Amino acid sequence: MSKKIAILGSTGSIGLSTLKVVQKLKPAFQVTGLTAYRNAKELARQVRLFRPKVAAILDWKFFPDLKALTKGTPTQILAGEEGLVAVAAESGADLVLSAIVGAAGLKPTLAAIQKGKDIALANKETMVMAGEVVTRAARKSGSKILPVDSEHCAVFQCLAGSSSPKEIHKIILTASGGPFRNLDKKHFPKITRKDALNHPTWRMGPKITIDSATLMNKGLEVIEAHFLFNTPFEKIDIVIHPESIIHSMVEYIDGSVLAQLGTTDMQIPIQYAMTYPARGNSPVERLDLAQVGRLQFEKPDRKKFPCVDLAYEAGKKGGTYPAVLNAANEVAVGRFLNDEIPFTRIPTIISNTLRKYRPLTNGTLDGILRADHWARQEASKIS
Ligand SMILES: NC(=O)c1ccc[n+]([C@@H]2O[C@H](COP(=O)([O-])OP(=O)(O)OC[C@H]3O[C@@H](n4cnc5c(N)ncnc54)[C@H](OP(=O)(O)O)[C@@H]3O)[C@@H](O)[C@H]2O)c1
Repeated sequence: MSKKIAILGSTGSIGLSTLKVVQKLKPAFQVTGLTAYRNAKELARQVRLFRPKVAAILDWKFFPDLKALTKGTPTQILAGEEGLVAVAAESGADLVLSAIVGAAGLKPTLAAIQKGKDIALANKETMVMAGEVVTRAARKSGSKILPVDSEHCAVFQCLAGSSSPKEIHKIILTASGGPFRNLDKKHFPKITRKDALNHPTWRMGPKITIDSATLMNKGLEVIEAHFLFNTPFEKIDIVIHPESIIHSMVEYIDGSVLAQLGTTDMQIPIQYAMTYPARGNSPVERLDLAQVGRLQFEKPDRKKFPCVDLAYEAGKKGGTYPAVLNAANEVAVGRFLNDEIPFTRIPTIISNTLRKYRPLTNGTLDGILRADHWARQEASKIS
């Protein structure tokens, strides 16, 4: 019998890769739900091809288009936040692949977890904002959270042989270093949107690509790893590895370091989360190490990329601080992508928002959403 999968954010980079994997694994998977924000045309194409039970578009403005473009299919068409939550929790999926970008992924992902669905998690912002709420809900409902982020998928695999968390000396997350690894900081004020969107090793959506250029992506991943693997921040390290062949490592107390390697294609970690604990044939070309030639490593330059320390700081403070960090980052990245602020203002806006924050709310879902709202308003005001 085929496994039923719902894909939140099916029109994005991860969503499209997931649908490619679904087609390669045919007939092992059946798509029961799909969602998008505004891309009705692509969502309709997917509905016609995969004929899910239900599909939802967040923005009501595009609901009539989606309805018209999917006429004649058996799919129920919904819209708005409730529509996304219905796809996550009510489409009959066994596995929900969470690939919405940003904080918008939290509510539908949490709804799926509360229903006891297994989650293939690409939407790291959900874990950063609400790691405690999400992991607590998963423990309660019995939902498994399987990481899709290539680094966390690597760590997950390297941890497979470990008998106790006490044996872990360190989690080492690798980072490509982004497009500005070798650029002198004095040139940073001139960085354009086009420069920052030109990632050296991965093709991804715009928000994560900018996060990779500021290294905030690695900061968010440190917080994600803290919650996913229940590991203190002191035991999570970053190493720059420009080839992006080693996706991350675990160093054990006996000095053994386990690494997971692969080509830079998200179809591999997506497929692993989908077929776990089994493995399917490689969905992409195999890794040719002789062709790669050599692997390099260096320390991250934390002065040039202050977002790394901002993330560690917010993560260690805990509570609603990671939600504030995440929201301020989303706003700053959005403003940079709209050509409203220069690249160098991204860390300043995040840092100023964190400095102004006085946590009045606790780490409940409601408190997190209020902190997120406050940080968005604050980060939008800072010039
Ligand atoms: N891309 C990668 O290689 C990669 C790797 C690791 C982790 N991730 C993580 O995976 C997530 C998705 O990344 P991506 O690169 O696939 O992003 P993306 O290409 O920008 O796609 C985002 C998806 O989310 C939808 N969406 C955007 N804003 C939304 C909102 N406010 N409410 C509901 N849906 C919304 C988009 O719909 P529309 O198309 O209609 O706008 C699209 O389907 C991110 O959290 C990212 O950090 C990505």
